[in-house]
Amino acid sequence: MTEFRILHLTDLHLFRDPEATLKGIPTRLTLQDVVDTVLQCESEFDYVIVTGDHTHDECPESYEAVRQILKPWLGRLAIVPGNHDDRDVMRTILGDVIAQQNPGDIPGDDRITFTLDCGPWLLAGLDTHAPGQVPGQFGGAQAAWLNERLAVHGNRPCVLFCHHPAVDVGSDWMDAIGLTDRNELVDVVRNHPAVQLICCGHVHHEFNGQIGRTRVVTTPSTGLQFAPGGTQAKFADDPPGYRVIELCDNQLETYVVRLSHAEHTPVCD
Ligand SMILES: [Fe+2]
Repeated sequence: MTEFRILHLTDLHLFRDPEATLKGIPTRLTLQDVVDTVLQCESEFDYVIVTGDHTHDECPESYEAVRQILKPWLGRLAIVPGNHDDRDVMRTILGDVIAQQNPGDIPGDDRITFTLDCGPWLLAGLDTHAPGQVPGQFGGAQAAWLNERLAVHGNRPCVLFCHHPAVDVGSDWMDAIGLTDRNELVDVVRNHPAVQLICCGHVHHEFNGQIGRTRVVTTPSTGLQFAPGGTQAKFADDPPGYRVIELCDNQLETYVVRLSHAEHTPVCD
């Protein structure tokens, strides 16, 4: 029996211009389609977690649009930045959300993290944003913070959330813009077997991997989809999607749901 349900959204890529498109995909419309589908088809979620790339242009107006579209869940929303994010603008527009998600205090670091209790489970959000860069950076200070948080929570089962996956996903071009210091995170996870799942974005398609006994998954974007594999970026005409995580006692189920069809087709430049 499911006790807790988590909705994972990622890579929204909204623009200030409501009609702007990313490679032909009107990201504001597709995010709204995803939200409408979830509200119509899913039962309630305890938390809604967004793992970055909230916007494509990092403008305040774009974050306002994110806020407006995710309004049904603002009281149970938790967020971490991706490479297409600006921490200062996030704090300005979504400061109340960040305040409610128990952001970690990492000395000398302005990362936006979270820790949330979900019954016996701990949910922890990690910030892999590296200003001005596409690849992610985990950082030694954040590793120390996570180690300490996981130690405090002992054997409680845990799910981590972050933008950049700490494993290769089988795409040469994508793996080149992954987490540069992934070993920092891998070491923490290997030392804490209670971490059952790491949920990531960034790759804009579903992927399933492993760090030891810990599952690593990525979730489709709410907008533009990438094709898995390959040596260079290729867009896919798959529908937008989201991920559901169901927690019960010490057990976890997770699966991706895509919209029934793609309203829009990506275009190459
Ligand atoms: Fe993205």
